[in-house]
Amino acid sequence: MIKTCLHAVVLLLLFAVVAATLLPRHDTAVMRQKVAPPRAFLGEADQLATAAACVDCHQEICDSHGNSPHALTLSRTDSENAAIAFDGKSWSPEGTEITLSWQLRNGLLEVRHSDRKRTWLTEWIFGSGRHARTPLITWTDQSGCTVSLEHCASAYAGGVLGPTLEMEQLPASDGMAALGSFRSHEQTVNCFGCHSGSVPVRNGRIQFDKVVAGVQCSRCHDRALQHAERMQQGLPLQMTSLSGITPEESINRCGECHRRPDELGGQLRPDDPILPRFAPVGLSQSVCFQQQSTVLDAAGNKVRFDCISCHDPHAETDPDWRFHTQVCRQCHNPDRPEHTLCSATATEDNCIRCHMPSVPAGAHLNFTNHWIRIPEEFSDAEALKSVLSQ
Ligand code: HEC
Ligand code: HEC
Ligand code: HEC
Ligand code: HEC
Ligand code: HEC
Ligand code: HEC
Ligand code: HEC
Repeated sequence: MIKTCLHAVVLLLLFAVVAATLLPRHDTAVMRQKVAPPRAFLGEADQLATAAACVDCHQEICDSHGNSPHALTLSRTDSENAAIAFDGKSWSPEGTEITLSWQLRNGLLEVRHSDRKRTWLTEWIFGSGRHARTPLITWTDQSGCTVSLEHCASAYAGGVLGPTLEMEQLPASDGMAALGSFRSHEQTVNCFGCHSGSVPVRNGRIQFDKVVAGVQCSRCHDRALQHAERMQQGLPLQMTSLSGITPEESINRCGECHRRPDELGGQLRPDDPILPRFAPVGLSQSVCFQQQSTVLDAAGNKVRFDCISCHDPHAETDPDWRFHTQVCRQCHNPDRPEHTLCSATATEDNCIRCHMPSVPAGAHLNFTNHWIRIPEEFSDAEALKSVLSQ
């Protein structure tokens, strides 16, 4: 036992090295990882700040964050209502005779496969439900490490059940493997790492009772607890302002989970199908992002352009295109003659539908292409005319 535990500790120490060769969930052949960013917050629980430590002084942000996709992106089946998306439902993958069905039993979600005698229990559901929810079945393997299986069925926005992304071909395998795709120990820790505040791992095992689900304040605000204490003691403010760091550093911080440009090796091509999934990679390739320092506002200050120009990390994304187009118009505006206007349409039009289109990924999911550029598909004048007339 001690031997296997030591083995697990060494594994963890080598975590960074190992991660470099990992194939994480959202992988394709195009993605060649060069670096190994820390995926999981493996630090001690006393470094973790949740809204409880901040609400006295930042009530509005805490309320908003509590209902945001970031906070709700991981749930236990016995707590939130995430399991309702599956409870009592069944689904037959297209072109198969199989039926998968789910039932909540004593706070755990039971998964049943029509061709199997035994059933499986799961405790964790990934995803806030704004886009998708996927159950993850976890257990301890022979060497004492936590591993998992990502379910082949997901619940999509609006409650419709369908295949999990990249699992459209149902695994034709025996036993448990028929329910989805196995995830190694490192991959499993990474799943929790990007979807929670803290993932304590001891001797290769995730300490599930101590996992704090959801992207919590301290994942983005370093040393937040120290700040809270200082403020309580009336000491001067010493907090890193996330609106004060450079745009590159800013998108790289989000990219710790949304993926950074330097994680994709080789030449990036605009038509790479993986790009819309990774907003920081796409945005960093845009001329608008790269040349932003050339644009000055009326007061002569640089117009800043990064993720938080359009997204409040403490809230859901504003679905109104007018809000986002307003951001484009900070720079592409007739009042700023030094900057280009659209040669295809008026400044009042919806820039997003052409320059940041929503791209389907599977039957039930869409991603937004964050590489702002001239759409190649409109090099055909007829195609452009037909879009303009819509
Ligand atoms: C005792 C009151 C108090 C507590 C508790 C507190 N803060 Fe603050 N915080 C302040 C004050 C005062 C400021 C400065 C004025 C402002 O931005 O509201 C501030 C500023 C900030 C800033 C902005 C820094 C900047 O310069 O842009 C962040 C980020 C922040 N706090 C995060 C947190 C987080 C996260 C927590 C919980 C772990 C927390 N605070 C707990 C009082 C507090
Ligand atoms: C610790 C990992 C992590 C970090 C850091 C992170 N995110 Fe996220 N983000 C996620 C996860 C996980 C989701 C999926 C939420 C869900 O389940 O719907 C998400 C979702 C989002 C969404 C989609 C929200 C919606 O309404 O659909 C936006 C936008 C977003 N993040 C922006 C940001 C920005 C901007 C930053 C940097 C300031 C950032 N994120 C940093 C993990 C992270
Ligand atoms: C490197 C960080 C990272 C890792 C590792 C990771 N995720 Fe995510 N996950 C994200 C981010 C960021 C989003 C939101 C944007 C997106 O969908 O890619 C997300 C979104 C999701 C969603 C919401 C639906 C969707 O596709 O938008 C589910 C479900 C999910 N992840 C499950 C998992 C599972 C299960 C694992 C492990 C097998 C995993 N994730 C590993 C960062 C990560
Ligand atoms: C996904 C990353 C992320 C998470 C999680 C997050 N923040 Fe922030 N926060 C940011 C960014 C980025 C900014 C800078 C935004 C800006 O200036 O518009 C910010 C700004 C702030 C500010 C200062 C801005 C203001 O309007 O006063 C406070 C205070 C703050 N956050 C508190 C919190 C608290 C409390 C939590 C947890 C309940 C939290 N944040 C969770 C990324 C995050
Ligand atoms: C010019 C505005 C703009 C900027 C800048 C921007 N986004 Fe978005 N983002 C959008 C719009 C518009 C959507 C789609 C919103 C909707 O569907 O309601 C979106 C959607 C998303 C989603 C949800 C999944 C998807 O692809 O639809 C994530 C995650 C996301 N953005 C992350 C980021 C991150 C991280 C950054 C910084 C690297 C960023 N965004 C910068 C406008 C922007
Ligand atoms: C911070 C300022 C800024 C913002 C915000 C901005 N852009 Fe740009 N954009 C630029 C600059 C600078 C260029 C390059 C020189 C020029 O055309 O003015 C550019 C170029 C472009 C181009 C030509 C790209 C190419 O490859 O030649 C398009 C298309 C474009 N922007 C669309 C948009 C859209 C749509 C938005 C909003 C989603 C937006 N921009 C937001 C500054 C910005
Ligand atoms: C119907 C699709 C469509 C919409 C909507 C649209 N554009 Fe364009 N945009 C194009 C096409 C196509 C081109 C390239 C035209 C060409 O090559 O002559 C273009 C070119 C541009 C350019 C580069 C111009 C140049 O001369 O280099 C900028 C900047 C731009 N658009 C910004 C915007 C902004 C900002 C909005 C929103 C106000 C917007 N576009 C709305 C399709 C669109």
